[in-house]
Amino acid sequence: MDDYQIPPPDLRGRAHPDRMFRMLGALITAFESLTNCAHLRRPPTQRVDRDLNLVVDEIRVEGQDVRSFRLVAAGGEKLPSWQPGCHLDVLLPTGRRRQYSLCGDPRDRGSYRIAVRRIAAGAGGSRELHDCVGTGSTLTARGPRNAFPYVRAGGYLFIAGGIGITPILPMVKQAAADGAPWQLVYTGRSRASMPFLDELSELDPARVRLRSYDECGFPPSGSEILQYAPDRATVYCCGPAPIIANVRRDLPDSAAQALHFERFTAPPIVDGQPFEIALTRSNRVLTVPPDRSALEAIRQQIPDIAYSCRQGFCGTCRTRVISGEVDHRDRVLTDRERTDTMTTCVSRSRGDQIVLDL
Ligand code: FES
Repeated sequence: MDDYQIPPPDLRGRAHPDRMFRMLGALITAFESLTNCAHLRRPPTQRVDRDLNLVVDEIRVEGQDVRSFRLVAAGGEKLPSWQPGCHLDVLLPTGRRRQYSLCGDPRDRGSYRIAVRRIAAGAGGSRELHDCVGTGSTLTARGPRNAFPYVRAGGYLFIAGGIGITPILPMVKQAAADGAPWQLVYTGRSRASMPFLDELSELDPARVRLRSYDECGFPPSGSEILQYAPDRATVYCCGPAPIIANVRRDLPDSAAQALHFERFTAPPIVDGQPFEIALTRSNRVLTVPPDRSALEAIRQQIPDIAYSCRQGFCGTCRTRVISGEVDHRDRVLTDRERTDTMTTCVSRSRGDQIVLDL
């Protein structure tokens, strides 16, 4: 998950590391205080270390390869509250940990709903949920927590790609309930593969634009989507990387003023430098190529290493650093944690080698 910020990160993906970027940052801060738009910045992801024991109460087919899971507390108690954009960290029976956006009704304190597309060639989390979890199964989860917060704004353009509708759906319903101007552009491989069309049809159809790739091609251009943005709209986008890239590129020429987006996959590594990782416990030295993450290199040697979001916000891949200087690119560790810990999915070494407690 990520969001659009001005100025953008430098070519190594770091926020404002040099003098020019610091000066630009100061100018932006002054501008924000004058225009009162600092609230559009995303707050850091809050860690929620609370285990929830949940039971799968209902499973529904929501589209081709998509199932929704209704989860209730095993003890029947009320569930913690959540807001649109929140997700659960779900611990699967094999020990895999995965994040799933909550896509039900935040007013319903008796149940959560998540929806999952089965990815046959994926890392196994979605297959496990589809194939091994049934009604009555128990799951442990943590959260809800919010790495994609819905901010009250004067107007919205929501953009969803396929299963990316899951965090967007509660936002759309919230905007509709608030009476805010909103538009939704919903894309997907085919209409049959796009979940929750029935629920969207109950909203204002004039505000919903369905754009399947088999009818309209892929990916849609950013300007094609952004033409629907209400004036000075805040844009929320969750979908495939090419759509996010196109929207980011064309946003400055649109009527929209801010963009928040959530990725499905690891962010691209920009101008990464190669480095070595020394694993002390397994007494191995690995090379991390410029276009690969440390986590990918480690998984070659330790296939069952724990990871989840691969985007630096969940903290599952945190690893103790014994020596070396880390280029921290996560959004989850505190400054104190960063003195001896790194998230291997996104962070890199500033030097030639880093030594990890693995
Ligand atoms: S896997 Fe989530 S922070 Fe690394």
